[in-house]
Amino acid sequence: MSNQLDLFHVQRAYSLAQGPLSNDQLYQSVAEAAGLASDALNQRCEIGRAKAKRSPLKRKIRWYQQTLKAMGVLRKVEGRRGVWELAEPTDKGLHQAPGRVCLLAYSTRLGVAIWGDNNAVFSHLDEPIHLCVTSPPYPLRIQRRYGNVAEHEWVDFITQSLEPIVKQLAPGGSVVLNVSNDIFEVKKPSRSLYIERMVLALHDRLGLSLMDRWPWVNLSKPPGPTHWACVNRQQLCVGWEPVFWFTNDPLKVRSDNRRVLEPHTDRHRRLLEQGGDTRVTHYGDGAHRLRGNGFDTPTDGRIPKNVMIKGHRCSDSLRARAAAKRLGLPAHPAMFPTALAEFAIRFLTREGDLVVDLFSGVNKTGMAAERHGRRWIASEIILQYIKTQAELFSQFEGFWLNPALAVDSPDRTGS
Ligand SMILES: C[S@@+](CC[C@H](N)C(=O)[O-])C[C@H]1O[C@@H](n2cnc3c(N)ncnc32)[C@H](O)[C@@H]1O
Repeated sequence: MSNQLDLFHVQRAYSLAQGPLSNDQLYQSVAEAAGLASDALNQRCEIGRAKAKRSPLKRKIRWYQQTLKAMGVLRKVEGRRGVWELAEPTDKGLHQAPGRVCLLAYSTRLGVAIWGDNNAVFSHLDEPIHLCVTSPPYPLRIQRRYGNVAEHEWVDFITQSLEPIVKQLAPGGSVVLNVSNDIFEVKKPSRSLYIERMVLALHDRLGLSLMDRWPWVNLSKPPGPTHWACVNRQQLCVGWEPVFWFTNDPLKVRSDNRRVLEPHTDRHRRLLEQGGDTRVTHYGDGAHRLRGNGFDTPTDGRIPKNVMIKGHRCSDSLRARAAAKRLGLPAHPAMFPTALAEFAIRFLTREGDLVVDLFSGVNKTGMAAERHGRRWIASEIILQYIKTQAELFSQFEGFWLNPALAVDSPDRTGS
């Protein structure tokens, strides 16, 4: 019966209490939240060498309580023995890792996911990073459930967040950032220039060079910006988001487009079979010439254009939503398609390289890295998203879950 419990129940008991809890109050609250029978807490059995009769359930609750204390999630209430409270109560029902608390949540043969603030996670990392692929919280005026940073603080926020990663970036390593183009000036249909400020700050403060801006074209985006396009009608509906690619050393950059070649079109294949383009001519002012030997050497594939045309439908997003539902957790509201991280990883790294995501959400970056034989490290500040991640990663080789996060979902128990 005590298997149904996890750290989450104990933390939730403190969140619901919105104040201090004695141990007896904690036991009752956890039992109720976990749907345990009222006498379950009092069932005892012989425990340890001394064979003392104790309640295994209470012992397990205290063990989770100890873990939360060690992580700094709980703090002692002054002057009241055995009474603890949440160190940082959360709002919106999401459990945010407080302060510099980090917990190794789960791992696979290739990667580790850590529940905690990215700065706390990455500032002690002593390992060369080859690529960072991430999508930070956008400076939205209407906040996401997981919280967003205000526009005027955003450039400082992103530079400070990336600083520990850039310090560890291997020569020629890359940072790929998916951000929003759709932040508007207050009460105007004109766009904020925060992206331009970000590019300058990453260059001037962190020494990153801009390699490219990839428009991620997603024509299946819902109509918006609602006010400026659908109500006021002064704007067009948005069909793309920018993805920025930076490196710390453009002369040593590890990119290689041969790793992302696409199949030739049928038309081009036919042209190759005919021996190439034999026309000899020139167009316009002569800048574009055909010399009679165009495309006469067969190649392995087509070099991709620097535009990512990817709808947001992604089977991993569907799996993530289903996993969250199964676990009774909120679905992540802002996932990118795994294909986006996959492209960056294949193009910018080699097998065995280290890829990180400091704002990992459901950890699409880790998933893509795992499938392409790259090592990975992911941080995520919200416990519920980390738990959804763990559910998605259980299929990968060497999966280990911190017992403090274990939940017996129907899938895992087979019941
Ligand atoms: C836009 S979402 C990323 C979604 C992700 N790319 C995916 O496809 O699932 C940003 C994420 O960053 C997390 N986050 C925000 N601040 C953080 C911090 N200081 N440290 C770690 N994660 C943070 C949020 O909880 C949220 O899940």
